[in-house]
Amino acid sequence: MPTGFQQIRTEEEGLEDVGNGITPTLILSVFTAVLGSLQFGYNIGVINAPQEIIEQEYNDTWIHRHGEPINPNTLKTLWSLSVAIFSIGGMISSFMVGVVSEWLGRKRAMIVNNALAFLGGAFMGLAKLGKSYEMMIIGRFLIGAFSGFASGLVPMYVGEISPTNLRGALGTLNQLAIVIGILIAQVFGLDTLLGTPTLWPILLGITVVPSILQLLLFPFCPESPRFLYIVRNKESKAKESLKRLTGRVDVSVALTEMKEEKRRMDLERKVSILQLFRSRIYRQPLLIAVVLQLSQQLSGINAIFYYSTDIFKKTGLEQPIYATIGAGAVNTVFTVVSVFLVERAGRRTLHLLGLAGMMVCAILMTVAQNLSDRVPAISYLSMVATFGFVAFFEIGPGPIPWFIVAELFSQGPRPAAMAVAGCANWTCNFIIGMSFPSIADACGAFVFLIFAALLLAFLIFTYIKVPETRGRTFDQIAATFRRTPSLLDQEIKPSTELDELSPEAYE
Ligand SMILES: *[C@@H]1O[C@H](CO)[C@@H](O)[C@H](O)[C@H]1NC(C)=O
Repeated sequence: MPTGFQQIRTEEEGLEDVGNGITPTLILSVFTAVLGSLQFGYNIGVINAPQEIIEQEYNDTWIHRHGEPINPNTLKTLWSLSVAIFSIGGMISSFMVGVVSEWLGRKRAMIVNNALAFLGGAFMGLAKLGKSYEMMIIGRFLIGAFSGFASGLVPMYVGEISPTNLRGALGTLNQLAIVIGILIAQVFGLDTLLGTPTLWPILLGITVVPSILQLLLFPFCPESPRFLYIVRNKESKAKESLKRLTGRVDVSVALTEMKEEKRRMDLERKVSILQLFRSRIYRQPLLIAVVLQLSQQLSGINAIFYYSTDIFKKTGLEQPIYATIGAGAVNTVFTVVSVFLVERAGRRTLHLLGLAGMMVCAILMTVAQNLSDRVPAISYLSMVATFGFVAFFEIGPGPIPWFIVAELFSQGPRPAAMAVAGCANWTCNFIIGMSFPSIADACGAFVFLIFAALLLAFLIFTYIKVPETRGRTFDQIAATFRRTPSLLDQEIKPSTELDELSPEAYE
């Protein structure tokens, strides 16, 4: 998935079968929650197709105000900012997910979050009427803040209301909602639908519709029982919630499980972000966690999701928007494929495979873009290579970094590690969104060669540094780091370390 906010599952979850089933309340609650993820995806994909139209609008506004056409570079900066400020909003709010979800509770936090969606949708939807690109930029910031909250709160709530045996499967719906949101945005952006000079405000403002639906449905959904019991210590309320979710009168099994979870959490002290940076034992896993997030964002995936219509147009495709929709469809299909792969193959193997595949596709895209002037038919190679790029992303760099962060850290330091990883992720998301158009202008048809080089660097890093985490306990993983006391030490003899770290790689 584009920005890679995946449901985190650790190995110990999802294995024991407590025999709980799917109930109407559970379905309703999961559906209502993932409306937030749908909206997150929608706002990632929505600015791709109407770029040219909205740029013209900015230009008209400029002419209206200053009496002369806008300078192309100013226009580029304004548009990049409109695209990328989304990530600044996301970065700020993703940092506050922990605090807000404990303060308001999971459900109420999601309800209140919709205020940001309404404000953001209103600012973007009314920007044309107000003849103001400032309104558009503020709106993108607010909807980004909404998305940052949603990207943390939705998987948390869905994970907590799902019975253990369904947690993985229902968590997948969250990922699926995001990629479907992107796809819907790309289809709505067609110039036969809402991607027109008069209708684009509706295209952007329509994001409030899932919010309205969510507000109508949430009153019928229970609060997370784990929040009620583990955070608030309200056993009877937690029981009530469990009864509604499971449809059973006797919820003692689930309750015992939660008590066990609470006991385990009490055993391990929470580690703060500051402590995480100070302590030596976390240094190596933290480095890996952050670099893997960089590998996700600097792979260039969001260059595709934000700017593909423009890219395809430059390669000479006649209907670039259909290629963009194609990329969204490939993305959706491979999100499902990756769910099956992640359950079976090792994390490290999949990440290496994904990075290598993306690198090859990036090179093919470069070749295609350079030849498309001479051989028009080759613009289709560019399209196919882009689809491959997206598919390999969903196999490796999309989901894997989140799995590995969750699996490298135990209960105590995990929230702090996730916050740091999330911050690194959103920051790079911003950098790519902001700089891609300028870099693409400077490098012309060679721009994806930069991503190919970055992908190669991440491939080498992963090969040397990242241990296999699947099916290992935290103690076993921690032991692999203890055996390598210093970074220097490890760099001197990478091949032997590798044998110890990841025997699977040689199978
Ligand atoms: C802005 O609009 C004017 C008039 O329509 C046009 O001549 C000019 O090329 C446009 N500038 C940009 C950067 O698109």
